[in-house]
This record gives sequence, structure tokens and C-alpha cells, in this order.
Amino acid sequence: MPFKNRDIISIYDFSKSDLLHVLKVAAAMEKTPRSSLLKGKILGTLFFEPSTRTRLSFTSAMEQLDGQVMGFATSAVTSARKGETLWDSIKMIEQYVDIIVIRHPQEGSARLASEAAKIPVINAGDGSNQHPTQTLLDLYTIQKTKGRLDNLKIGMLGDLKYGRTVHSLAIALSHFTNIKFYFIAPDALRMPKEYRDALSEKGVPFEETENLFEVSKDLDVLYATRIQKERFPDPLEYEKYKGIYRLDKTLLTHIKPDLRIMHPLPRVDEISPELDDTKHAVYFEQAGNGIPVRKALLALVLGAVK
Ligand code: NCD
Repeated sequence: MPFKNRDIISIYDFSKSDLLHVLKVAAAMEKTPRSSLLKGKILGTLFFEPSTRTRLSFTSAMEQLDGQVMGFATSAVTSARKGETLWDSIKMIEQYVDIIVIRHPQEGSARLASEAAKIPVINAGDGSNQHPTQTLLDLYTIQKTKGRLDNLKIGMLGDLKYGRTVHSLAIALSHFTNIKFYFIAPDALRMPKEYRDALSEKGVPFEETENLFEVSKDLDVLYATRIQKERFPDPLEYEKYKGIYRLDKTLLTHIKPDLRIMHPLPRVDEISPELDDTKHAVYFEQAGNGIPVRKALLALVLGAVK
């Protein structure tokens, strides 16, 4: 399906060839970092929830292609505070910009925004639901650091219930051949049924365990996540699970020599900084890959590349 004017809302909307196409365009963007592809275009960044990497990398990507950016980084300064609905905000903002990137605490908000807007909308995270652009940069990182997207044993660790990045990534990887997942989480934070069912339907195998060391020797990629404090309805529940996993040098004797450790960041205490300088840690490089991948998405959706 062509990308021009398409909304990027859910990873379910991507076929395997769509995913591979974005990665191919991203690789081309990485080779020619600066150009005037998006000159005259304006991106609106609507961040109703905190963000560092996602907002800044979208901004940098747009500016490196000579486009412009306007927006907000907190809902505190918007008319949402005065009671304006998201629908009305979008109807108005779409008259100022050519494309919208939205992050919002509510699941389904990006879909709603895309229904309100005639211009394209990109989901930069809707509650605990999905984060499709993070997934594309995660795939790009796996392809670059492992040299393949097939034949992989992928561990996902931490808050698999509320972590939107692992939801989107599991579905995206299910398109590839000979993938096996290891979902490492306490029972209360396990991968939701919706995603387990989607994998089962596609015949993608997964194991669930609480104990990382039971499975760590099998893994090609270990994708760690933060316990999503802001999503817990009960703060006491969060207290039970915070700090439950902490990767440190003791991991190194229990892994394959070419394991790659990923994390969407920000980390709290899931990965000790003592791992940062090891060849396994690719999380900062992963964050950097947000630039070529988000350039590719902006240029594709705005019709500047095919
Ligand atoms: C993630 C997110 O917002 O879901 N961060 C990001 O975009 N890189 C992960 C997180 O907040 O834990």
C-alpha cells in the first residue's frame, strides 16, 4: 500500500513489505543525512504526555530535511486544560500544519485524532496500547546489529502489560521467519492476552517465565523495559514491582557472546550503567536510529519519497 497521506496508528496496519520498505528508505536517509526533501512542510508535535527521544528525534528529523516544526511538549499549556476536546483541538491544528505527530495517555487517542484530521496523523504512543514508530526503529536496530530479522530468539523483559513498545514490536516481528519469543515478567505484568493470541494465531512460539536466567542463554536479543509507573491504577502495586529486574555484569556469564541488549529508554534501574560499555549494549545506538527511521516515515507520508 502506498504511504502517501497514510496515518501511522497501529502496527497491525503494516504488512511485512510495508515494514521492510520503511527500513529501506531509512537506510537511504542514513546515507544522505541532510536534504531539502520536506522544505515548506510543517510538522505539528502534539505531546500530551512526557517524551524526550520521540519528540526530539521527530523534530530533528524534520529539521534535517528542511521542514519546520511547531507544537507543545505538555498538555498543561493547551486548551485541553480549558476543556477543549481532542477532536476539536485536532480540527483546528490541522489548519496550521501538514502532518501531526501525537502522544497521548489514552489508548485509542491517535486513532481518534486520525479520524478527526484530513491530514496524516502519526501515533507516537497512545497509553499502554502501541508505539509503532518506536517499533520501526527497533526493527532497524535489530537488522543493523544482528544482520537479520529472521531466525531470532527474542527476550522481552519487564513490564509487558503496560509497555506499549513491546506490544507493537511483538506483532511486527511475527511477520518474520523462525522467531521465538521469551516473555520474562511477573505474572501481574505478563504480555496481554490480545498479543499472545495474535502470536498463537500466526503460529509464532513463545515461552513465559519470571526468571531471566532460565532462558538468557538462548537469546539473540534481550529487549528490556521500564516498569510503567504512570500506568498503574494503584501506586502500591507499582511499589511491588519496581526494581524487579536489574541487568548487570552477572548477566554476562549467562548469555550468548553476540547477545544484543535493547531498551526503548528511558531506563530507571533495569540496566546497570556498568553494561553500557559492553558490546552487548545497543540502546543508545537504538535511540539514534530514531532519526533515519522518522525521516523515512515523514518523507513517505508527506509524499516526498515513494
Ligand atoms: C517509551 C514509551 O514512551 O513508550 N519511550 C520511548 O518512546 N522511547 C518507553 C517508556 O516510556 O518506558
